[in-house]
Amino acid sequence: MDRAGVGRIWPYPRVLAHRCGGWLAPENTLAGLERAARWVGGVEFDVMLSADGSPWVIHDETLERTTDGAGSVARTHDARIAQLDAGRWFDEAFAGERVPSLEEAARSCHVLGLAANVEIKPATGQDRETGRVVAEQVARLWRGAARPPLLSSFSLAALEAAREVAPDLPRGVLVGAIPAHWVQLCRDQAAIALHADARFLTEHAVRAVRAAGLWCVAYTENDPERVSTLIEWGVNCVITDRPDVVNEESLRVRPVPAASSQRSP
Ligand code: G3P
Ligand code: MG
Repeated sequence: MDRAGVGRIWPYPRVLAHRCGGWLAPENTLAGLERAARWVGGVEFDVMLSADGSPWVIHDETLERTTDGAGSVARTHDARIAQLDAGRWFDEAFAGERVPSLEEAARSCHVLGLAANVEIKPATGQDRETGRVVAEQVARLWRGAARPPLLSSFSLAALEAAREVAPDLPRGVLVGAIPAHWVQLCRDQAAIALHADARFLTEHAVRAVRAAGLWCVAYTENDPERVSTLIEWGVNCVITDRPDVVNEESLRVRPVPAASSQRSP
């Protein structure tokens, strides 16, 4: 381990389940972590602050889509969030599943042996506060862990605040399509990784990211063939909704490409 606790070898699994368990369970739940652990060695999940400033594992700024609550996460108090059902919307079999606190998710990751990519997901206007709180808690909850979570965010302000309070935690800059100024962006953040939308990645772009000394993370890819291609190009890690079909096994069984044209972007 050297820079920001990360050495020359990509220290996380090559496949991470998206929003805890991808499509195998309601997103961002402990049930998702449990399902993910059956297939892969790591997960990505999103963290946002409540009205009390506490970090909860949830994606949207509002509660409606993934819980039986209503209104904005940032205006809802902890006591109410803790009561919400976060499973029934997905399937009756998951009724009673809760929105996990960051602490509960961390405990589950430890128990299940899952590596984590914690995405800092600030509600509007809460970028710095969310970055600060999430980084502080991640540092505390994974203290002494051999492999600290990789923090990532679309919000540069959140990443900056995270860096101020926990400079040793590795950070990745999240983008959609790779912007023209990506080198400067990652340099300014002292980021170790660029996380880009898999749909826009090309072999040329991936090789450029790796040549710049950065790790390359691709999200969200569910086709095992495409995942294998991304890995061949040099992508270090793929985030997927289908850990049951995109995993180390699917990477192993992929036949060697017959023609070089198959590798063109
Ligand atoms: O971190 C990769 C991916 O999770 C970013 O998109 O909207 O699913 O958080 P989203
Ligand atoms: Mg995310």
